[in-house]
Amino acid sequence: MKISVLKDLMILGCAGALAACSGGDKPNVELIQDMMQTPALKAQSYDEASPNHASMRVPAEHTVPVGYVPYKYGTNVEQASKELKNPLAGDTSEPVMWTGIRVYETQCSICHGPKGEGGEASKSPVSELMALKPPSLLTDKVRSMSDGHIYHIITMGQGVMGPYNAHVPQKDRWQLVNFIRHLQKNAK
Ligand code: HEC
Repeated sequence: MKISVLKDLMILGCAGALAACSGGDKPNVELIQDMMQTPALKAQSYDEASPNHASMRVPAEHTVPVGYVPYKYGTNVEQASKELKNPLAGDTSEPVMWTGIRVYETQCSICHGPKGEGGEASKSPVSELMALKPPSLLTDKVRSMSDGHIYHIITMGQGVMGPYNAHVPQKDRWQLVNFIRHLQKNAK
């Protein structure tokens, strides 16, 4: 007798659990409600407590995210080319070259070719589809650019080439410039 009552209870319990899980578009039964409703706000929702009632907070004035390096030249390529000085000028040490090659291969070679020979010559799958082929980086034009000019192009882009500041962190950009110089030197 006792056992059969226990059985009945178990069946009832299982049925209850199934019902709780098979809610479909209905909300689940909340047996323990602890974590179901959190006070966390969703992005772009209303917040009673916030000064402008937006859940996303505006950064405090005159602050930047940790690690953010402001770029003061904007689109002023002339000024950037003149004023930006390469702190690693001429450095071809291993750590510099390794960073440069890593960044070049992941971000640039797909268009400018593995050796900087340009999209036309490298026939990369991306440049094949581009009307304006990514130019060679071994030309007299790029050779005569200052390091700061190349740094500026990486940061802000040029013409149809978009900016790579989001893909190439500031700490890796001069190494990349040095690696391009290395490609130029080796291409004679
Ligand atoms: C999606 C293809 C693409 C990628 C990726 C790309 N570039 Fe470019 N790049 C171009 C094109 C196209 C131009 C020519 C843009 C123009 O002048 O309108 C260009 C121009 C340049 C120039 C100026 C060359 C000249 O003769 O004026 C430099 C320097 C350069 N890129 C460096 C880089 C570096 C360094 C990277 C990697 C961080 C990179 N590019 C990634 C397509 C690309």
